[in-house]
Amino acid sequence: MMKFQSRIPEILGIKYPIIQAAMSWMTDAKLVAAVSNAGGLGMLGPHAGQTTNPTSTEEVIDRMRAEIRKIKALTDKPFAVPVYISENPAVIEPMKQLLLEEKVPVVLINVVLDPELFRTFKEAGVKIIYRAYNPTIESSKEAERLGADVIVTTGFDEGGSVPSNPIGTFSAISHIADAVNIPVMATGGIADIRGVRATFVLGAEGVYIGTAFLATEESRMAENVKQMLVDMTAEDQMIFRINMLNSFYRSLPTQLAHKMVAEDNTDPVRGEKAQALMQGTVGMRIGMLEGDLENGYISVGNGITYIKEIRPVKALIDDLMQDFI
Ligand SMILES: Cc1cc2nc3c(=O)[nH]c(=O)nc-3n(C[C@H](O)[C@H](O)[C@H](O)COP(=O)(O)O)c2cc1C
Repeated sequence: MMKFQSRIPEILGIKYPIIQAAMSWMTDAKLVAAVSNAGGLGMLGPHAGQTTNPTSTEEVIDRMRAEIRKIKALTDKPFAVPVYISENPAVIEPMKQLLLEEKVPVVLINVVLDPELFRTFKEAGVKIIYRAYNPTIESSKEAERLGADVIVTTGFDEGGSVPSNPIGTFSAISHIADAVNIPVMATGGIADIRGVRATFVLGAEGVYIGTAFLATEESRMAENVKQMLVDMTAEDQMIFRINMLNSFYRSLPTQLAHKMVAEDNTDPVRGEKAQALMQGTVGMRIGMLEGDLENGYISVGNGITYIKEIRPVKALIDDLMQDFI
């Protein structure tokens, strides 16, 4: 058995250096608490525990507060919540207040390197994970200077919005790890023990995983989509460009994904029409939560090749963290 060192468990107050990533619509208190109870760090995402779009900022905050309180009823272990959970800038300030009021132990900052935001959470003793959508050496150094505790090195193999700077997961790790002194966590396409070990060899001190947690018993993803993760491989992924973040996007095959690829091939600006078809993340809710393979899309990382069964969260964590147990 290989043995690796990591500073992350001590920094975040957890047992194993594994984080279940924020995922729009796909997280809830049950998943997050299961991860934290199994020794990792569970993290809520936008629309956590929800099935409909909120109609006001107050509703966004009230719903998030309710989900945070549900976690506290299910675990006494640390968990995390992102500061940026909406594209609406009016949500940031009340979200900041909510995280402080509810004494959330760890936050994710993933959009803007706002010194005031870092200072506020540092002063409150809250741990900060920084994940840039497009990681660069410069922004990682700046996040470290502002007080980030851990940096996630977003790689192109990930599920969700992939970086517009197409640096693969394994290239991204040493790229950033060599530039900062705080620990980095690898993300993108990691779904089995070989992937975990490889990230540590490259300089990561932990893994930040989304897709593999979707293929668990506790995940709220539709059953037919869970089965697609078991049956399909990275070869089934369809890729297209979108305007948002000027980036690429992947989906497993659905009728909507076929339309998106056709759109990408014909529309020179690849833009407004593509966004309208995807309906922002509503298309994700329709595809992944409701299991509608006509009107929705299914965003997952390239690690699906290694997903062979639907397991309880604890079995997944025990497997991926076997070098730390
Ligand atoms: C369905 C889905 C939704 C996601 N939504 C978000 C999001 O709302 N905010 C965010 O910061 N990252 C989001 N991500 C990205 C994850 O936080 C994480 O970076 C990614 O899942 C890691 O790659 P992996 O899925 O290959 O493990 C999403 C990922 C997936 C698969």
